[in-house]
Amino acid sequence: MPSAGPNVPRHVAIIMDGNGRWAKQRGLPRIEGHRRGVETVRSIIDAARELGIQYLTLYAFSAENWQRPPDEVSALMSLLELFLRREAKTLIKNRIRLHTIGRIEELPAGPLKELKRAIAATQEFTDWNLVLALNYGSRTELADAARAYADAVVAGREKPEECSWSALSRYLYTADLPDPDLLIRTSGETRLSNFLLMQCAYAEMIFSPVLWPDFTKAELVTAIEEYQRRERRFGLTGEQVKPPVRVHRPAVNQ
Ligand code: IPE
Ligand code: IPE
Ligand code: MG
Repeated sequence: MPSAGPNVPRHVAIIMDGNGRWAKQRGLPRIEGHRRGVETVRSIIDAARELGIQYLTLYAFSAENWQRPPDEVSALMSLLELFLRREAKTLIKNRIRLHTIGRIEELPAGPLKELKRAIAATQEFTDWNLVLALNYGSRTELADAARAYADAVVAGREKPEECSWSALSRYLYTADLPDPDLLIRTSGETRLSNFLLMQCAYAEMIFSPVLWPDFTKAELVTAIEEYQRRERRFGLTGEQVKPPVRVHRPAVNQ
């Protein structure tokens, strides 16, 4: 089983998908799938820490998910509020810092209050990081970044002729976070659904057929093992990124 080490991805991002289908398969309402999905969130936060993953980003609610039936949206918001209220103590106990990405100010007052409280209560921690993507979409993130960058140009803090990816990325929600090394999507869907499109430019992607409520630490370990078998080249050749082969020359007896 992988443990903390150079080959464990520093940042794992997960598109937690399949709650609705999990419930449907059992003749249960969709919200029951979301409830079970929250249990998986708890166990995967623990597992990630045990495995030495420093950053875990979970796609919990997309900017497009508001268009779901209103009762599902409000049930999801209640579950979020409950999760944050219950989980804050565990985050503090395990010294996990909570971050969010997305337009969180558009969330209902209840979950927003819990979110702000948990973020403030964990802000001094540095070793472990949980990032919740809430009301998140890469395209709104880009629009928000462009607006903030344009404001900075007008205020004289940025010069368009010096614009680069490193300058622009400081305006993304993820400004303080490293890029994901490994992106996992559960439920067999093989799309990104507007999630971290730029930050995953060089992430390894793994698509698991398992529905999110059934996803376990064992599945996470399997994904990490697959990640460890891959060669990340970042545009270079395989020879350039491979560690130099050490030729062992046995001592010659003369
Ligand atoms: C993921 O499960 C949870 C959220 C998007 C909030 P889904 O609710 O998308 O489950 P499926 O895709 O309908 O099975
Ligand atoms: C992506 O899942 C969003 C989250 C997991 C929160 P969706 O279920 O909303 O994505 P699509 O609609 O199938 O692409
Ligand atoms: Mg889905």
